[in-house]
Amino acid sequence: MRENLQPTWIVANFKENGSRPFFEDFLEVLSKARGRVWNPESVRLILCPPFPYIPWFLEHGDGMFEVGAQDCSLYASGAFTGEVSASMLRDIGCQWVLLGHSERRLWAGDTQESVAQKARLAFEAGVSPLICIGESLDVRQRGQAVDFIRQQVLFLLKDISPQHRFALAYEPLWAIGSGLTPSEGEIEEIHGELELILRSMGIREPLLFYGGSLSTENAPQLLRCNGVKGGLVGRPCLDPKVFLSMLEGLSSISS
Ligand code: PGA
Repeated sequence: MRENLQPTWIVANFKENGSRPFFEDFLEVLSKARGRVWNPESVRLILCPPFPYIPWFLEHGDGMFEVGAQDCSLYASGAFTGEVSASMLRDIGCQWVLLGHSERRLWAGDTQESVAQKARLAFEAGVSPLICIGESLDVRQRGQAVDFIRQQVLFLLKDISPQHRFALAYEPLWAIGSGLTPSEGEIEEIHGELELILRSMGIREPLLFYGGSLSTENAPQLLRCNGVKGGLVGRPCLDPKVFLSMLEGLSSISS
């Protein structure tokens, strides 16, 4: 278990959910509870709404959170209708971009190569990538999870230098939205391996997150595993009260 000396990060991935009234309510709930139920110094938030709401979140952050996009284009600019580049995100003040989420790998054609290319563009633009990695159930059951994750990360981080700010989220595919989670031992094994890889690249304090079926109940325990600095959540951010109760539970394990 890690010491209670560091803030815990929570990344909220709203996916293709939300509306103006929903997000207004969400921020009102957070802001009313600020300083009482949670505070942004001990639980650090990155909120990732769908693209159209990013400027609104940036305007209304009031020091409570940083803002991330859920993806960016594979190209720097050009005739790519519908795409949003990393430099456009930087232009409007967006600090983070989620890359390689398993849902995008599953149905939007993201591959290891395209995720690595998007990460390169994000670094060049000055947006911090939050890169998702994770094994399938089949790989886990064959006992190959650690090897699989090592290969994924070595490929994705080949252009990284220690100056870059980025985060990795370990999200086993079988845990996302399923109600299943790895054991604490399994999470610590993967995060231990990630720390070794990143240290060998000269990255001392890596931002490593766990994601997949985190809940108010299990988050205080799973996010205290060695090497885990925070969590990436999907479902819990769809109800601001549930999200807030998760933050409340985490406030007691963070400083
Ligand atoms: P979940 O989603 O919290 O609903 O499991 C996590 C994710 O998609 O990153």
